[in-house]
Amino acid sequence: MVQNTGSIDALLQEERSFPPPADFTAKANMADPDIYAKAAADPEAFWAGLAEGLDWYQKWDTVLDWSDAPFAKWFIGGKLNVSYNCIDRHVKNGRRNKAAIVWEGEPGDWKVYTYGDLLREVCQFANGLKSLGIKKGDRVTIYLPMTPELPIAMLACARIGAPHSVVFGGFSAESLRDRINDSESKLLITADGGWRRGGVIPLKQNADDSISNEYGDGAPSVEKVVVLRRTGTADDKMVDGRDIWWHDLMEGQPMTCEPEPMDSEDMLFLLYTSGTTGKPKGIVHTSAGYLLGTMATTKWVFDIKEDDIYWCTADIGWVTGHSYIVYGPLANGATTVMYEGSPDYPDRDRFWAIVAKYAVTILYTAPTAIRTFMRWGEGYPQKHDMSSLRLMGTVGEPINPEAWVWYWQHIGGGRCPVVDTWWQTETGAMMIAPLPGLTTLKPGSATKPFPGIQAEILNADGNPVGLGGGGYLVVKRPWPSMLRGVYGDPERFIDTYWSRYTDLQEGGIYFTADGARLDEDGYFWLLGRVDDVINVSGHRIGTMEVESALVDNQKVAEAACIGKDHEVKGQAVVAFVTLKDGVDISDDVVVELKAHVAGKIGAMARPDDIHFAAELPKTRSGKIMRRLLRDVAEGRALGDTTTLADPAVVDSLKAQYGDEE
Ligand code: WTA
Repeated sequence: MVQNTGSIDALLQEERSFPPPADFTAKANMADPDIYAKAAADPEAFWAGLAEGLDWYQKWDTVLDWSDAPFAKWFIGGKLNVSYNCIDRHVKNGRRNKAAIVWEGEPGDWKVYTYGDLLREVCQFANGLKSLGIKKGDRVTIYLPMTPELPIAMLACARIGAPHSVVFGGFSAESLRDRINDSESKLLITADGGWRRGGVIPLKQNADDSISNEYGDGAPSVEKVVVLRRTGTADDKMVDGRDIWWHDLMEGQPMTCEPEPMDSEDMLFLLYTSGTTGKPKGIVHTSAGYLLGTMATTKWVFDIKEDDIYWCTADIGWVTGHSYIVYGPLANGATTVMYEGSPDYPDRDRFWAIVAKYAVTILYTAPTAIRTFMRWGEGYPQKHDMSSLRLMGTVGEPINPEAWVWYWQHIGGGRCPVVDTWWQTETGAMMIAPLPGLTTLKPGSATKPFPGIQAEILNADGNPVGLGGGGYLVVKRPWPSMLRGVYGDPERFIDTYWSRYTDLQEGGIYFTADGARLDEDGYFWLLGRVDDVINVSGHRIGTMEVESALVDNQKVAEAACIGKDHEVKGQAVVAFVTLKDGVDISDDVVVELKAHVAGKIGAMARPDDIHFAAELPKTRSGKIMRRLLRDVAEGRALGDTTTLADPAVVDSLKAQYGDEE
C-alpha cells in the first residue's frame, strides 16, 4: 500500500496551468526522427548499438539477462574500465590538452585540469589507494567538498575497482557514520573543510565525530582516513597512525596505473538515498550499464558538442553530480565545470559571473535555484554577458511553468531551449526528457521518455491512464543504468520498487513513487512524490528520518512530519510534535528541536515549522495520518477522516493551527 505525503488524489486535485505548446525547438545535430520508433521496436539492439560507443577490453555475449528479475544483468561477459572510458581513451584520441574539469572555488581560486592532467592525478591517487591496501571490491566512503579531488577520488576508485560511496558534505557526522557502517568502508576520504558562504564546513570534525564512539560504536570498519587540505583548519587534528594528508599520499606515486578490467556488472558505486521506511538505502550501480546510460543521455539531451563548456550546478554528493558532472560528461570527452560554493557569495550574481567567465554554453540546474533567482530579480543576470549559453536544463523536482519561462527568458535570453529532465538516484540516468531538435517543448513538462525507456502512467488498478489522465509513473522494461539493488537488502529492493504492480507483468514493473499526468499530446507532467519522501530544494528527505531525529530528543514523546508546499524550496518539512509530560511548549523548545534535527541529519532536513499537538491523528490501526496533517499545515479543508480513531484530535489541531498559514 502506498502511503501519502501527497497522495495521488491530492496531487491530481492541485491546480496546474497547462500553457499552450510553444515552438521552442532547437537546432541540433542528432535529428533522426525515427529514433523513438527504432528504439521501441528492439530496445536491446538499440542499447547494444550505443554500447559500441564505449571502449571494451572484451565485448559482451548477452545484452540483457532478465531471468532473475527484478535483478537485471546487462552486457554479460563484457569487460571494461570506467575511468579508462572517462579519461585514457580521450587522451589517446586527441583530447590530451582539452580541458576536462574547469573548477572554481568559492573564494575565487580556480584551476583547469586537462584530460592529460586528470589522467596523471587519477593514476597517482589510485596508486595511493593501493598503497593503503585498498583492493578491488573494497568500499571507500568519500566526504569531500566540491573540489577537483572529489571526482579524482571517484575515478581513482573506479580505476582500481573499489566502489565509492560519496556522502554529501551537508550531512551530519551521524548520517555519515550510518552510511560508512552500512557500506563497511575501509577508507574514508575527507577534507579539513569546504568553503560555503565565506565560512568553513567542518568536514574533518564531522568525520572524526562519525568514527569516534560518540554515537554507538563509531565506524569500526574504517582503517585509514585521507585528508585533503582545503581550508587550513585541521592541521592540528590529524590522528597519528590513522590520518594521512592527501598531498603526502600523492607524493612520489607513479604517474601511471593500469586500469583494472571490470565485469560489466561489477559495482561502480553506492549512493544512499531516502525512502519511505527505515534508514537511507544504498542504491547499487554497476559499471557498463550506468556508464552507457549517463553517456548517451548527456550526449543526446544536452546535444553536447566538442567545444561546449558544460556546467551542472549540482553537488557531486547527489546523483545529479555523479551522473552529470562526472561520469556522463567525461565519458563524452566534454569539458565539465564545477563550482565549490554558494550562489549568493560574495553576491547574488555569482552563477552568472561564472557563466560569463568561462563562456558556459550548457547550464543544468534545479527549479528551486531558478525560483530563488526569480525572487532576487533579473538585475543580477543582466550584469553579465551570458550570450555564450545555448541550451539549459533542469532537474530535481517539478518545474512550474512560470519558473521555466523565466529561466528561458532571463537566463537564456529567449534563445536557448530548456530541457526538463525527470529521473532518480535509482534510474541512474535521465528517463523522461526532450531531445533538442526533435521535441517541441512545453514549459513545465519533462516531455517524453528517452528512446528505449518504456515509461507509463498507471491507475491504481494497473491500467494505463490514457491521454488526459493521471496516476502513478512506472517503467515497464529494464534499462541499462537502472539500480541493481539496495545494498545488502534484496527484500527491500523488491518491496520498494517491484511489488506495487507485482502480478501484472512478468519480470515486474518498476514503481517510481512519483505521480504524473499525461496530456492530450502524450506529454508527461510530473506532479511529485506519492510516498513519504519530502523533496526540499531537490533533496530527498524521508519523513521517518526526521521523525526519528525528533523522538531522539528527550523532550519529545511522538512526532510526525509532512511536506508542505513552499514557494521557493518546492516543499518544506513541517513537524507535528507531542512533548513529554511536564515539558512546556516554548519558543526555546522550537529552536532546540529544529537544531536537533539539523544536527542529527543535516541542515537541509531542518523543519520550517514545528506544531505542538496533545495527540497526533492516527488510524484505528495506529498509523499516523499524514495526509490530514498536510491539510492542516496548508490550511485546507480536511480530507476524508472516516478511518480516524479519534476525530476530536484533528478538530483540536485545526482549531489551534488551521488559520495560521
Ligand atoms: C523528483 C534526482 C519532477 C522526483 C535526479 C524523483 C523530478 C526524485 C524531476 C528523485 C523532474 C527529479 N520533474 N520531479 N524533472 N527530477 N524529480 O533521487 O520526485 O535525488 O522521484 O534524483 O526527484 O530524486 P533523486
